[in-house]
Amino acid sequence: MRRDGPSFAMLVLLHWLNPLHRHIWGRGFSETCRVQFRLDRTTTATENKMATYTLNVNGQARTVTVPSADMPLLWVLRDYLGLTGTKYGCGIEVCGACTVLVNGQPEKSCDMSVSEASKAKIITVEGLAADTSGAKAQAAWVAHQVPQCGFCQSGMLVAATGAMKGGHHGAQIIPELNNLCVCGTYARIKDAAKTL
Ligand code: FES
Ligand code: FES
Repeated sequence: MRRDGPSFAMLVLLHWLNPLHRHIWGRGFSETCRVQFRLDRTTTATENKMATYTLNVNGQARTVTVPSADMPLLWVLRDYLGLTGTKYGCGIEVCGACTVLVNGQPEKSCDMSVSEASKAKIITVEGLAADTSGAKAQAAWVAHQVPQCGFCQSGMLVAATGAMKGGHHGAQIIPELNNLCVCGTYARIKDAAKTL
């Protein structure tokens, strides 16, 4: 298997030695989200009332009942709708692992509330195959064997699809892909993007 950077074992070791990552990985996604959600959001008694929203996700109406209008879309997608292709990386709008299309634009779902999302059309990585631009991006990623561990790649594919929808093609797409890849697959990402 071709690798572009340090070995995977070395990256895992470095992550594990980082106290913050150890804290996050040790808890698992849901518990980490709940802790972060409690820390990040100042909730009031009113905000804590259960609320029901109908989201348009991948062309389907999906109704969820959640404990707060401020709950991040990322949490709703993964824990309420079972769409786990969208990943939780940093939770602070930096890594791009949680990127989804919101009305055709790439957005970080860790920083969008479910109430905001209920007013928009959401496309996740699970919906890309049914989208002309998304299917083209997926085919290019397969042809160039882009993923290594794959964790960041759903966000990368969604970002590339959003760039195409925004009128970018070929090498113009590369500056639009600001997501982070711990495995360092950037060279193959560029090769694939140039063909779009
Ligand atoms: S998890 Fe949303 S940007 Fe990192
Ligand atoms: S392929 Fe592993 S983080 Fe990007």
